[in-house]
Amino acid sequence: MRVLCLASGRGSNFAAILAAIIQKKIPTAELVGLVTNNPAAPAIEIAKRSSIPVVVVDCGLYRTGGKLDRAVYEKELLPKLEALRPDLICLAGYTLLLGREIIERYPDQILNIHPSLLPSFKGLHAQRQALEAGVKWSGCTVHFVNHELDGGTIIEQSVLRIDDHETEDSLSRRLLPIEHETYVKALQKVAKLRC
Ligand code: GRF
Repeated sequence: MRVLCLASGRGSNFAAILAAIIQKKIPTAELVGLVTNNPAAPAIEIAKRSSIPVVVVDCGLYRTGGKLDRAVYEKELLPKLEALRPDLICLAGYTLLLGREIIERYPDQILNIHPSLLPSFKGLHAQRQALEAGVKWSGCTVHFVNHELDGGTIIEQSVLRIDDHETEDSLSRRLLPIEHETYVKALQKVAKLRC
């Protein structure tokens, strides 16, 4: 199972997937590359340390007046994804929405992690949304990507109790290692089904 990761920043979920594959925790999986839209993403260094091929498609080059020309950007991106022949594409902190063409090219093959218990708190600042809503449980979700924002079939979820004095920062920090475990569990599940 050829796994390709897309990440835009820190890359801790990417690092967790990479470590799990190196440690053969997802026995059939091979990590075939990291694709990023951000040439300054720390994820790049993580990939290079393990000799994982890195492809940068800098979305900054496709902006006019600050607005991304998604069609042109994705025209450039799609053949780069295809060249890596992925069976699964893992969005791991990838900050751009994928367009229709890419989503349709890889049906039920693109996974994403979101820091809330979907279907609650879709979109940006999910942890902040949870605190503002006053819920007592938070968590994270790994799901397949479809045309709806954070809307595809749920593969795996984990929960975390929100503390009395929780802040957005503390919740995000406590959730992160849980995200890493959840992503690996989701990949194990998908790998088992696809073997
Ligand atoms: C994570 O919280 C993930 O759930 C969200 O973006 C963040 C990425 O963090 N989609 P990292 O780059 O994987 O450390």
